Amino acid sequence: MLHLTILQALNQARQDIEDTDARMLLQSVLNVSHAYLIAHSEHQLTPEQAQSFRLLTIRRVRGEPIAYLIGHREFYGLDFKITPAVLIPRPETELLVDLALEQIPPGHPCRILDLGTGSGAIALTLARHRPLADIVAVDCSADAAAVARINAGRLNVNNVHIIEADWFEGLLGERFDIIVSNPPYVARGDPHLAQGDLRFEPRMALTEGAGSDGLDCIRLIIAAAPCYLIAGGTLLFEHGYDQVEACRDLLGKAGFRKVISRCDLAGIPRVSGGRFGSFPRETARM
Ligand SMILES: C[S@@+](CC[C@H](N)C(=O)[O-])C[C@H]1O[C@@H](n2cnc3c(N)ncnc32)[C@H](O)[C@@H]1O
Repeated sequence: MLHLTILQALNQARQDIEDTDARMLLQSVLNVSHAYLIAHSEHQLTPEQAQSFRLLTIRRVRGEPIAYLIGHREFYGLDFKITPAVLIPRPETELLVDLALEQIPPGHPCRILDLGTGSGAIALTLARHRPLADIVAVDCSADAAAVARINAGRLNVNNVHIIEADWFEGLLGERFDIIVSNPPYVARGDPHLAQGDLRFEPRMALTEGAGSDGLDCIRLIIAAAPCYLIAGGTLLFEHGYDQVEACRDLLGKAGFRKVISRCDLAGIPRVSGGRFGSFPRETARM
């Protein structure tokens, strides 16, 4: 146990956890790349490294998400610091980023609002891809906002203003070209909350304010967004796998036009949105 090689430590852990998880945990303990593990499989771990790896393996066996154990996660090709104060960014949320980027031609200044920014995954990715955008990122959790600020520093982003607020609080009179959001949309008591990573993620990110059908935050955002959008501005948001019809209905009833919904890679409708008011700008397309 005290003088394990990299290969022996990995083989031992693989008896309890997935191969990829074992590799990522050991990379994190040793602060090395995957290639290093392969090239130095006979390298001996110190007793402290072996002990840290064993403890992380045990926590993984208990179900703790890899991103919380190693403290980071890739999103849209960027590396984000992740703590248990924030939702772990999901691949399906990259679809929301894709759609937002389609609305903003490169080299075009615009204002974007990201509601419920968490780690800053959406706002900071948009900022990296559209450096001329002026972005406001809001979260009601001080701990989440702190993580987003650290990520802004890590990613060298200086066009995102991260504020701690309750949705549109403090933004009266401000107008945005695009509002994006991945709000809490899991219904209280949803059985998925007792499964997988969701067991460890903040309730504030999953269910807070989402109500009994999971749609209350989305209702609030759709109802308020027109007051904060320029004429012809766009609202885009992520929703649950079974919420697309309800979301489209809410958008239509609130006066949004050109309502769209897009599916994730699994073919599940995940993002919906629309434009509000007249459409004076040639550049904003939907
Ligand atoms: C589903 S997470 C999304 C995090 C991040 N945008 C992402 O996609 O990975 C929802 C976020 O909304 C925040 N939130 C919940 N209620 C809020 C409120 N009333 N005002 C602002 N943010 C809120 C949570 O703290 C959480 O960070």
